[in-house]
Amino acid sequence: MDLKLIKSNKCVQTSDLDVFLLFDDKNIDLGCETLNLLKSEFDAKASKIEKIKVLKENKFNNILLVGMGKESELDLETVKNIGGDITRACKKENVSSISIRNFDDISLEENQVEALAEGLLLGNYEFNKYKTDKKDSKLNTINLHTDKDINKNIENGKLLAEATIIARELINEPANVLYPKTLANKVVELGKEYGFETEIYGKEKIEDLNMKSFLSVAKGSSKEPKFIVMRYKGNPQSDDKLGLVGKGLTYDSGGYSIKPTSGMVDMKGDMGGAGAVIGAMCAIAKAKLNKNVIAVVAACENLISGKAYKPGDIINSMGGKTIEVTNTDAEGRLTLIDAVYYIIHNENVNSVVDVATLTGAAVVALGTVASAIVTNDDNLYNKVEIAANLSTEKIWRMPVFDEYKKILKGKEADLNNSPGRDGGCITAGLFIGEFVGETPWVHIDIAGTSGSSKDSGYKSKGATGECARTLYNLAKLY
Ligand code: BES
Ligand code: ZN
Ligand code: ZN
Repeated sequence: MDLKLIKSNKCVQTSDLDVFLLFDDKNIDLGCETLNLLKSEFDAKASKIEKIKVLKENKFNNILLVGMGKESELDLETVKNIGGDITRACKKENVSSISIRNFDDISLEENQVEALAEGLLLGNYEFNKYKTDKKDSKLNTINLHTDKDINKNIENGKLLAEATIIARELINEPANVLYPKTLANKVVELGKEYGFETEIYGKEKIEDLNMKSFLSVAKGSSKEPKFIVMRYKGNPQSDDKLGLVGKGLTYDSGGYSIKPTSGMVDMKGDMGGAGAVIGAMCAIAKAKLNKNVIAVVAACENLISGKAYKPGDIINSMGGKTIEVTNTDAEGRLTLIDAVYYIIHNENVNSVVDVATLTGAAVVALGTVASAIVTNDDNLYNKVEIAANLSTEKIWRMPVFDEYKKILKGKEADLNNSPGRDGGCITAGLFIGEFVGETPWVHIDIAGTSGSSKDSGYKSKGATGECARTLYNLAKLY
């Protein structure tokens, strides 16, 4: 879908459907008596949308009145949700273009313009490619009527929406279609399209690298694991590199510690972290940021077979620490420790951010509202917090007292991959922390935020693409 800027002209009807935005606490002149009358009847609370017909030159025109709530209370998340709701409402109207007519009258700030663009585009996304009876909406153009110079903000909004949609598309794809090899192929294609380097390691190279922990998880599947490396060098003069790691379980059955069916159906989405880092890399490269960013994904499936790893196994890792596997469903951390160790020691990054649908405990703690953070570095954390705020993605920092670290100790090996329910989100994060040494590191657990059970505002049912925008913003200010 295209978002176009056109010169404002209050009188001329330029598309199939005119949209007017209204504040609850501000009187906006809609330029004609009839509209102003209708407006006075309309309760402009945020995301309230009403369709009305007005008679113009002997014919009825449809218009949508859209409430924005109180101008004094307008925050970026609300703007984004309103954008999503507008697109969703218009898709139902069987029109190919809409016009937001009084855009200049509501005088949005620059970041609000960006958020509106983002919301309008994200609200258009739905994962319906496998429905054979789908009625695709005709809507293909949103015209923003403006005389202001807001092109830069609109482009930035488009870029962030694009990164998010790339993530959503990958995450929503079912596991019989998207598995390590097809994910890797997709990343190679995206690298060519957006302008970052890619390298894919197959099983042999992963063995050579000694990624024993990652391989233990991958063993149960007949699908070969792939270690996906993405490199973007926007500042070749500098040695500074930001490292991004995404959990890439293209499917998580739990393995021998098998999940119930209800917990398994959504586990094609256990690569939400991978989606986020891949989406972010596309935006970073497209924007030609003058930063160096490396991203990796250890992609595999966690399944059951005669070759699978088992509860009670003692395994090794690239970092050399041994692990007793007390639960094969705590597999994410086992793939991530080799990925973070690799990106620190083989790609020489200066900081690492990992993003993972890691624990049910994060969902218990924070619900689907916020992602949980575990970190060893205030400075890097502060940057992630700024980036998340810019993206209106909510994060919450967990405490990392030494008592939690003690819980990780194994009985017969150095570490235990599943030391119990208590503080499960923190201990999972700290398990990864055992492999980062002194390198500044932030872990983001998106188990609760990566998926949505329904369409709502700019979020669509299924994958949300959480953290693609935060990681892009982080790279920008890194
Ligand atoms: N992929 C899951 C976590 C998850 C749960 C993501 C719900 C999204 C929604 C992860 O691999 C897992 O199964 N974690 C276990 C860990 C436990 C065995 C220590 C969990 O959270 O139950
Ligand atoms: Zn699991
Ligand atoms: Zn998992």
